[in-house]
Amino acid sequence: MKKKIAIVIGVTLIQFIRIDKDHPTYEKSGDFLTVTKADKKTTNLIQSACYDCHSYDTEYPWYTNISPVSLWIGHHIEEAREHLNFSTWAEYDSEKKEHKIEEMIEEFEEGEMPLESFTWTHPEAKLSADEKQLVLNWFKSIQ
Ligand code: HEC
Repeated sequence: MKKKIAIVIGVTLIQFIRIDKDHPTYEKSGDFLTVTKADKKTTNLIQSACYDCHSYDTEYPWYTNISPVSLWIGHHIEEAREHLNFSTWAEYDSEKKEHKIEEMIEEFEEGEMPLESFTWTHPEAKLSADEKQLVLNWFKSIQ
């Protein structure tokens, strides 16, 4: 009984830890899809498959209000933006851009990205073979 009470208290207290859900402002003109002039279809696909983690345009689902799920997701987003942030693409120098595009192709081709834990909860991010090819061709075309 005491153990149960302790768990309930623990789970309740952890709810007070909130992740930072700010949408930092950024220059829309410096966004990856704007800079590279991606067409509408490619834009939609990349936005739904990558932008929740790799940009400032994150859409936070309801369960991101619940700890510890929220902490786990918050950490992923923070880490993803650190590695690659499409919203601040224009700030990367040309060498960094080139390197990131190379990695995008690699991660995407190997099926490492988007993370599997994300496509479970975001079926729209699970691209069909044709959609994948389209995105891959796009990454390669701007290389
Ligand atoms: C659920 C969040 C999430 C989604 C969605 C996601 N990523 Fe990531 N991505 C991460 C995290 C976290 C890392 C850093 C850790 C790692 O490499 O696993 C990362 C790392 C990367 C890296 C490596 C960057 C570097 O400098 O090492 C590339 C490239 C990348 N992602 C591309 C993509 C692309 C392209 C998409 C969409 C097709 C995508 N990611 C979707 C979370 C995500």
